[in-house]
Amino acid sequence: MTRLSAVKPSGHVQLGNYLGAIRRWADEHGPNDVFFICDLHAMTVPHNPGRLRALTREQLAILVAAGVDPEVACVYVQSDLVDMHGALTWLLECTCTYGEAIRMIQFREKGAGQTSVRLGLLTYPVLMAADILLHGTDEVPVGEDQSQHLELARTLAKRFNHSYGEVFTLPRAVLPTVAARVRDLSDPTRKMGKSAGDSPGVVYVLDPPDIVRRKIRRAVTDDRAAVRYAPDEQPGVANLLEILAACTGTSPYTLAGTISSYAELKESVADAVVETLRPVRERAAELLADPAELDRVRKLGAERARTHARSRLDAALEVAGLR
Ligand code: TYM
Repeated sequence: MTRLSAVKPSGHVQLGNYLGAIRRWADEHGPNDVFFICDLHAMTVPHNPGRLRALTREQLAILVAAGVDPEVACVYVQSDLVDMHGALTWLLECTCTYGEAIRMIQFREKGAGQTSVRLGLLTYPVLMAADILLHGTDEVPVGEDQSQHLELARTLAKRFNHSYGEVFTLPRAVLPTVAARVRDLSDPTRKMGKSAGDSPGVVYVLDPPDIVRRKIRRAVTDDRAAVRYAPDEQPGVANLLEILAACTGTSPYTLAGTISSYAELKESVADAVVETLRPVRERAAELLADPAELDRVRKLGAERARTHARSRLDAALEVAGLR
């Protein structure tokens, strides 16, 4: 069984990425699993090359610091296989329809109101499908926001297999039971997202403890003064309970019954988040101070990923009539 997932270096890694995805990759990974930093995806909106390079490095350090062992799973940087991801993307772009691409929610959201939208913003779900299919992936551990992209990957795999021959495995999304959609602390109607820049509602994995505490203390709640787990009516409180549940391995319903005030809730969340992130932050700092080790990890991952992907890409090129 192959599990695969990725994180995009469009900004600093935030708590939602960690609880919804990265931590799960670290908890459970084997020699067939593949995790990567998808730097090609970070180019769909205007980007700064130096910042992209730095963020790619930082995310590689965070993945390893979080406990994704590059000696066990394959951990790589997507652009190290730009030829392979690019080639398969083209085959899949010629499998996908324009109508399917414009229906993607993230394209609508990110493209809305912009006068000039990069074509890559429209086609990146196809690049994501290529990422997944290239490695013969069975399961994709992601947060809820990626579900629609996973459906597209399945559709394209089925269509390609049906048109040319059975090359691709059909992948499925695996969502976490809690923290599938961590919300922004200042606006709990939105998901927490790293691209928002340094916002008071976003906790970054590398934020120092005092900043984490400050952001959590200022989280928006409501004026009901009742600690209940009711996501529709009390989204701010529910979000805090979910974060606490994810950090402590309990359920938000159970926690709601044990906490009496918003102040107590925020203190508990702050303590739990600080302690959850502490080892990751400390280990990431050590790795970032050791460029040779990060280079070694990156090179090892690129070689393994290339070997892992080669035969499937060759088979796809062949059945499509290109060999
Ligand atoms: P990205 O970088 O936006 O997010 C990385 C992972 O974090 C999850 N996530 C969240 N989970 C819970 N709450 C949140 N607020 C939250 N924000 C983000 C995401 O669901 C994701 O699992 N297109 C993808 C990266 C990608 C990918 C792939 C993923 C590229 N190729 C192939 C899986 C397979 C993205 O932008 O993730």
